[in-house]
Amino acid sequence: MDSPRILIIPGSARDGSLNRRLAAVAAATARAAGLQVTEMDLRALALPVYDGDLEAASGVPAGAHELRQAIATSDGVLIVTPEYNGFPTPLVINAFDWLSRIPPGDGQAGGLAATANKPAALLSASPGPLGALRSMNFLRQYLQMAFAMLVVPQQFALGRANEAFDGEGALKDARAAQSVEKVIAALATLARAMPTPR
Ligand SMILES: Cc1cc2nc3c(=O)[nH]c(=O)nc-3n(C[C@H](O)[C@H](O)[C@H](O)COP(=O)(O)O)c2cc1C
Repeated sequence: MDSPRILIIPGSARDGSLNRRLAAVAAATARAAGLQVTEMDLRALALPVYDGDLEAASGVPAGAHELRQAIATSDGVLIVTPEYNGFPTPLVINAFDWLSRIPPGDGQAGGLAATANKPAALLSASPGPLGALRSMNFLRQYLQMAFAMLVVPQQFALGRANEAFDGEGALKDARAAQSVEKVIAALATLARAMPTPR
């Protein structure tokens, strides 16, 4: 088969984001492992905060359809998110909430059909010592329970992330780099085992 297509989604709404930097490391790691990588900037989807009246008036915004298409044409999804007060960012949750509102139609699967049984993996980063670990636990539950995604057990939280990168954007700590490699390898193994039809 062709090499797995991995969609990488940073969860930060901030230029200079530590999680974007970790996502860049993950992308380079995935490419080095022979995977095809697409990166998606959730901010560029320009999704408003979920609004049922807006949905009733004008349907689900185009940005959510763009996210659905990117997920539907990937073999695996990697989300790299900060935590805000122990929880995944509103940018991530809002985008997936909108995605879940896309009904099937016009020969296209609905939002939840695009995520069902889709391999996924999680990374997180924070200047704090726990590296936003708590957010991944909530995000894992959210993606598994509501979106039927298959989130691999391997995950990695990069603590003290403000000190973790060298001038080239690489991780200074070899063990941290290996942890990212293990998460990518687990996602690639599952994506190879259950590729999305092309
Ligand atoms: C509203 C808010 C809540 C935060 N809560 C936490 C938290 O619970 N745990 C933590 O480790 N860092 C927390 N932080 C700090 C973030 O980890 C830090 O801003 C980080 O750089 C954000 O990720 P980014 O660099 O990828 O944007 C919080 C930041 C904000 C803005």
